[in-house]
Amino acid sequence: MPAGGALNVDKHMYEKVCFIVEGRGSTEVWTEGSKKQTFEWQKGSTFSIPLNASHRFVNATNSPALIYCGTTAPNVMNLFDNVNFIFNNDFNFTDRYSGDDDFFKSVEDVEPDPVRGLAMRRTNFIPDLINCELPLDNRRSPGYRRVEPHMAGNRFYFWIGQHETGRYSKAHKHASAAVLLCLKGKGYTYTWPAELGMQPWEAGRGDMVKRQDYEYGGLVSAAPMSGDWFHQHFGISKDPLRVSAWHGPNNQRSRKAGLPGEAIMDYGAIDLKKGGSAIPYSDEDPHLRKEFAERLAAEGVSSRMLPEFYTDAAAGDAVGNVM
Ligand SMILES: [Fe+2]
Repeated sequence: MPAGGALNVDKHMYEKVCFIVEGRGSTEVWTEGSKKQTFEWQKGSTFSIPLNASHRFVNATNSPALIYCGTTAPNVMNLFDNVNFIFNNDFNFTDRYSGDDDFFKSVEDVEPDPVRGLAMRRTNFIPDLINCELPLDNRRSPGYRRVEPHMAGNRFYFWIGQHETGRYSKAHKHASAAVLLCLKGKGYTYTWPAELGMQPWEAGRGDMVKRQDYEYGGLVSAAPMSGDWFHQHFGISKDPLRVSAWHGPNNQRSRKAGLPGEAIMDYGAIDLKKGGSAIPYSDEDPHLRKEFAERLAAEGVSSRMLPEFYTDAAAGDAVGNVM
């Protein structure tokens, strides 16, 4: 958004989640029968425009603002294939937006999500995604923190996760899914097709592993291409590595309908040898541990990967496979 201006009024039959990468401004929201309300945002603010509510973005400062938005537009456009229906539709989703004065006030309460029981916040506004409190989760690395915001009654799914300084995630694989947005710290991500196995460097196929470096505002496709790629995240800065994963409405895990009688399993958090899809530290390619130690040393950061993380006994239950 350019400095000192406003975007056109907009209204659409798809959900929109916004993260302010940089800048300051405000947004006005209204629907037929509800009064206009305005909320302010700045770097790190995250919110959702309620489905089909009219809205306008205003930037009254003299610097530009950069806004990262995720939408369900591709799904809606593919289904209805009618621009008039999507952008000139008078239907008022009163079940999603009532016009309440506190609609865009941050709600700090954490509750279990209905499918997997992971920490969830029902809030339509988060003042600072970069520094907000995250409950302990432990699933992807020891000390890992995570929360999934549930905004504006959306189907759009996203979460925020953070690895402790000096520790890295375990690799896991799943269908093509989220785009990861780096919020804090710097580091790198490896991803490789499942056919290359758990130890691609040992197998002499390290050249087929894709690597992406990233820092604040950088984006990584975690399980790219046709999906079923392993991916693993390494933070090397003094700040912890915090990322936000934006799945949209197509997340196969948290909103999976499942089959009658099927147990709900959090495959990505369970080791491969126990029927899940994560590589325990004890089975990973030794190249990863060695390189991580070298990269940390070059940055002057101490490793907090404890030797017991790599023993077979600890690789599962004690170290991060908490459902
Ligand atoms: Fe993943």
